[in-house]
Amino acid sequence: MKRILVTGTAGFIGYHTAQRLLDAGDCVAGVDCLNDYYDPQLKLARHRELTARYAEFQCHEFDLCDFDHTADLFSSFRPDLVCHLAAQPGVRYSLINPLAYERSNLAAFLHVLELSKVHGVERFVYASSSSVYGGNQKLPFSETDPVEQPISLYAATKRSNELMAGTYARLFGLNTVGLRFFTVYGPWGRPDMALWKFTENILAGRPITVFNDGDMYRDFTYIDDIVSGIKAALETADLANDEIFNLGNHRSEHLLELIAVIERATGKEAVKQFEPLQQGDPLRTYADIDHARDRLGFTPHTSIAEGVPRFVEWYRQWIEHKPTPA
Ligand SMILES: NC(=O)c1ccc[n+]([C@@H]2O[C@H](COP(=O)([O-])OP(=O)(O)OC[C@H]3O[C@@H](n4cnc5c(N)ncnc54)[C@H](O)[C@@H]3O)[C@@H](O)[C@H]2O)c1
Repeated sequence: MKRILVTGTAGFIGYHTAQRLLDAGDCVAGVDCLNDYYDPQLKLARHRELTARYAEFQCHEFDLCDFDHTADLFSSFRPDLVCHLAAQPGVRYSLINPLAYERSNLAAFLHVLELSKVHGVERFVYASSSSVYGGNQKLPFSETDPVEQPISLYAATKRSNELMAGTYARLFGLNTVGLRFFTVYGPWGRPDMALWKFTENILAGRPITVFNDGDMYRDFTYIDDIVSGIKAALETADLANDEIFNLGNHRSEHLLELIAVIERATGKEAVKQFEPLQQGDPLRTYADIDHARDRLGFTPHTSIAEGVPRFVEWYRQWIEHKPTPA
C-alpha cells in the first residue's frame, strides 16, 4: 500500500485515477480547487462520489497556487508518490484566456514539483499532452520527435512542465515521469470536449459545429486505458529520471467517423455546420506507443465503437439525475 497524492481529483482523469488506486488498496489524498472552467457541479459530484465510496479517501479543496496550503498538505500527508494531474486544460481556451494558464499550469506545477523534491517523494508523475507535438507532420508521433514549436499557449505550458520536471530530475535526482495523453474520453468526461458537445447537441436536435469540414484525425483514448497507463507509471520499478511516455490508443480516427459512432449510439442523425480549422488545432494526432508498451506494459484495448456508447449511456444518466445547484 502506497500513500499517493493525486491532484485534480474533481477533474475527469484525476477522479478515475483516484478511484483505481483506492480500489487497489492505496491510500489517496486528493486535491482540487473546483474552479468554474466548466460546470463545478460536475466536479463536486466527482468529489462526492469518491468521498461517499471510499472511507480512506482524503478530500482537500483548495488552490495549489497557494504554496503554504500545499506545503501543509505535503507535511501532514507525507506522500510516497505524487500524481500531478491538476491543470487548466483546453487548446482553444488558451487563445482567449491565456492568463488562466499562468497560475495553474506554471505556478501550481512548480509548487507541487518543488514540494515533491523537498519531501523526497519516490516518484513525481505528471500530465503532459499530445499538444506538445504542435504541427508535427511525421506519423505516428514519437517521444523522440521535435517538440520545440508548440502552436498554442496550452501546449507551451505543457512543454514547460516537461522542461521543469527534467531540470529537477537532473539537478536533484527527482524521479519524474511525464505522460503525454492523447484526447481522453469516457464516462464522467469533460463538457468542453468534442465528444460531450456533439452528444449534447445531437440528443437535443441542435446542429453541431464541425471544424475543417471534419477533415481532422484524433487518437481518441478511453479513460480506463489511460488510467492503466498512469497506474503503471506510478508503480513500474526502475524507471529512469525524466522519462516521458505517449499514452494514446495508437489509432488515428477521422472526426466524421467519431460523429457516425455517436449517431449510432444516440440513434439520432447529426446536423453538421462546417467551420474553418481553428487556430491552435493540429490536423492530426497519432501516438506511437512502443516506448510505453515496452517500459510500462501499456496495451490500450478500447476502440471508439466500444467506448463512445459507454460515454453516451453515462451522459444520459448524468443529464437525468444531475444535481441542481445549491
Ligand atoms: N482530457 C484530455 O484529453 C487530456 C489530454 C492531454 C492532457 N490532459 C491533461 O490531463 C490532466 C487532467 O485533465 P482532465 O481532462 O482531467 O481535466 P479537468 O479539467 O477535468 O481536470 C483538471 C482539474 O484540475 C483542477 N485544477 C486546475 N487548476 C487547479 C489549481 N490551481 N489548484 C487545484 N486544482 C486545480 C480543476 O478544477 C479540474 O478539476 C490535465 O493536466 C490536462 O492538461 C488531458
